[in-house]
Amino acid sequence: MTGLARTGTIDETTIARLVDTFYARARADAQLGPVFTAAVEDWPTHMATLKAFWSSVMLRSGRYKGNPFAVHKALPLQPELFAVWLGLWRATTGDIFTPEAAALFDQKALQIAQSLKAGLFPFRPQEAGAPL
Ligand code: HEM
Repeated sequence: MTGLARTGTIDETTIARLVDTFYARARADAQLGPVFTAAVEDWPTHMATLKAFWSSVMLRSGRYKGNPFAVHKALPLQPELFAVWLGLWRATTGDIFTPEAAALFDQKALQIAQSLKAGLFPFRPQEAGAPL
């Protein structure tokens, strides 16, 4: 979809491309979009934070200093939104990266999403929707 060949390279440049593409799609998504629109006032700062986050996760750069759990706890999230988020993430990694590189991003995202979801919605399996 980018017009560029899928890359197997995971570096700051390709992480930035992934984050830019993913959040453009998330903002346009019928379910995710309203959450972002309501919460994010400063998009350049948000994008820089997300690039630092994924740089820390994938490259161990240590660029991200923050607390995603606390940030998401303050948001009006429904547990079902995590599957939507992950579906969009997986589609986007698959558009930008080779299957092998995309799988590395997807595995990290799955772990973090499971952890966030379990922490935010403890002891409510009947409300939590299908496992991620
Ligand atoms: C239910 C699905 C999700 C929704 C709707 C969502 C939405 C949001 C929103 C609206 C913000 C901005 C909050 C603010 O600026 O006040 C945010 C921040 C963030 N999200 Fe999510 N998120 C979701 C899942 C995830 C997942 C699965 C990850 C990681 C794999 C993630 C990583 C982050 C990070 C790193 C931040 C920045 C935290 C900071 O400011 O330090 N999110 N998210």
